[in-house]
Amino acid sequence: MTGAGMPAGRTPAGGTPDGQTLWHGRFEGGPADALMAFTASLPFDVRLARHDVQGSRAHVRGLARVGLLTEAESTQILAALDQTAMELATGGFSFVGADEDIHTAIERRVTEIAGPAGGKLHTGRSRNDQVATAFRLWVTEALVDTAARVIALQEVLLAKARQAGDAYLPGYTHLQRAQPVPLAHHLGAHCWALSRDVDRLLDALSRADVSPLGAGALAGTSLPLDPAATAEDLGFSAVFTNSLDVTSDRDFVAETLFCLAMLGIHLSRLGEEYVLWSSSEFGFVTLDDGFSTGSSMMPQKKNPDIAELTRGKAGRFVGNLTAMLVTLKGLPLAYNRDLQEDKEALFDSTDQIALALTALGGMIDTCTFNLDVMADAADDQTALATDLAEILVQAGTPFREAHAIVGALVRDSLAGSATLAELVAASPAFDDGVAEVFQPGAAVARRQSPGGAGRDPVVSQLEQLAATIEADRQRVTSANAPGRPTALSATPTG
Ligand code: ARG
Repeated sequence: MTGAGMPAGRTPAGGTPDGQTLWHGRFEGGPADALMAFTASLPFDVRLARHDVQGSRAHVRGLARVGLLTEAESTQILAALDQTAMELATGGFSFVGADEDIHTAIERRVTEIAGPAGGKLHTGRSRNDQVATAFRLWVTEALVDTAARVIALQEVLLAKARQAGDAYLPGYTHLQRAQPVPLAHHLGAHCWALSRDVDRLLDALSRADVSPLGAGALAGTSLPLDPAATAEDLGFSAVFTNSLDVTSDRDFVAETLFCLAMLGIHLSRLGEEYVLWSSSEFGFVTLDDGFSTGSSMMPQKKNPDIAELTRGKAGRFVGNLTAMLVTLKGLPLAYNRDLQEDKEALFDSTDQIALALTALGGMIDTCTFNLDVMADAADDQTALATDLAEILVQAGTPFREAHAIVGALVRDSLAGSATLAELVAASPAFDDGVAEVFQPGAAVARRQSPGGAGRDPVVSQLEQLAATIEADRQRVTSANAPGRPTALSATPTG
């Protein structure tokens, strides 16, 4: 087909070796430029190339097993797929103007190489099950990769927590000084949140790990395909049970976007603290020059841009999740083109999370905690009020009464009559031993409740954290993620 005789605004269609769309049979002329410009997904779904080839290989082997391809045909198509994969991997693949998406482009190229046998590649398959298969493969890979990156950040936090030893800082509620807490406890808190993220990512994996191949456009096929066998060939743990559902289900995308949004929000909260802590007002941390930026105008500035951008990108993660949920809302069964909107959102969130995890990990790994500044702030005597009340409780005073006694002493000390320590020493409610609690770090050392911000509970907590991280690393290594390159090479190729 050439441009001659075509209606204005139409281009030679492409998509097949002779330049036709995949659906040319029913259509007169080619698609309008505006249609292609608006509907083509190649610019972004090119990232699914490897996963599409993986799905196509399994599909070809499946067709051969049930006699829909001869041995010779399947060998020919598989060889063409190998060559196509090689061209895609090495940059030698030439796209044509009308390759609508990566799936179309690959099928076109395979048909160019394999000749008439290539025309059988799409037997019993629709792009609807094909796209869902490739994307699920991609998502399984992204989930385990992201989990591994989260674990790398946890390791940085854990190492810093171990280095922190008995150092302590003020713990805050309402951003008001509350009680002194070990720095290790503070770093551990973020680590535990991240461990839930790892758990969520690996849990989402179980629902992404389902093969849609063989569901056809929406209804399966009259051809004798065996979806369970192709699912097994691909390394998926499960196969679909309802073709309408699996061709239109994007729960696995929304769920992954939620995992990334929640993770992004955890990173944002972490980032926010480094913004505060690196300010002159707090002075708790000094960031390494390599992980800070300067000002174009103010020569003295050193800015925590990584921490700020991590905070800023949380908006984008939530936006991508929201976009996917709204796209899905109200879609009738089964496939609708709206579903093509699933990819950019997820690619974006996955990429940005990976960048944030690496940058934040480097920033924290190289930062210097100003332990003296932290300790000075935490040694603020009023931060010991709760511990003082608990000393009275241990001597038999009801807590409410103890609270009131200490509260009155704090009020007097704030009025400027004397320090809290002096007022406590003079108070008949306390005996002499109370002076000990005013020693630097004494309050933290006294705290024993399991999981609490005390020296001993934190030691055992860090052991638990190390064991959890190690177990999660094993889970990541042994996770069934059929889209991972390691899983790919393990896929039988005959
Ligand atoms: N690029 C499209 C997607 O990602 C391919 C599906 C088009 N399918 C169709 N039936 N028109 O969803």
